[in-house]
Amino acid sequence: MRPAWALLGLCCLIWRVTGGPSGDFCSQIHNSGVKPGFPKTIKTNDPGVLRAARHTVERFNNCSNDIFLFKESHVNSAMVQIVKGLKYMLDLEIGRTMCKKTRHPSLDKCDFQTNHTLKQTFGCYSEVWVIPWLHEIDVPVLHCH
Ligand SMILES: *[C@@H]1O[C@H](CO)[C@@H](O)[C@H](O)[C@H]1NC(C)=O
Ligand SMILES: *[C@@H]1O[C@H](CO)[C@@H](O)[C@H](O)[C@H]1NC(C)=O
Repeated sequence: MRPAWALLGLCCLIWRVTGGPSGDFCSQIHNSGVKPGFPKTIKTNDPGVLRAARHTVERFNNCSNDIFLFKESHVNSAMVQIVKGLKYMLDLEIGRTMCKKTRHPSLDKCDFQTNHTLKQTFGCYSEVWVIPWLHEIDVPVLHCH
């Protein structure tokens, strides 16, 4: 959990430096009680968080060479930030399922591996960007270890 939050801090710092309108950004925060664009902690069972977690594993599965699909097993913590839509920042765990990738089954029907040789879990940090009015969902950041 520590490394992910350290990373999160770093990412927000970078975002502020590179993406934020530097001077205005600070005065905006100072003047407004709403604090637009500030990341805030959100419940890990929030429907938006669960959808973001699912998008994270879909991206992971698209990028992995594993013959089995992975599925989200636990969301440790989540933050959300308003940036042209919603940007979720997740610290989650994913695990290998018994579903083979080639069969393209729905992840809901996939159970986690029970075979000790095949069992595998990863801790991941992901950023999932949802722009509802464009029906766009992107996973610009995904680190698993
Ligand atoms: C994964 O790949 C499938 C098929 O190529 C695509 O439909 C889907 O949008 C991709 N998902 C993500 C999260 O990249
Ligand atoms: C677990 O998986 C390994 C590798 O596929 C296989 O050789 C082994 O027989 C499996 N064990 C059980 C108990 O199914």
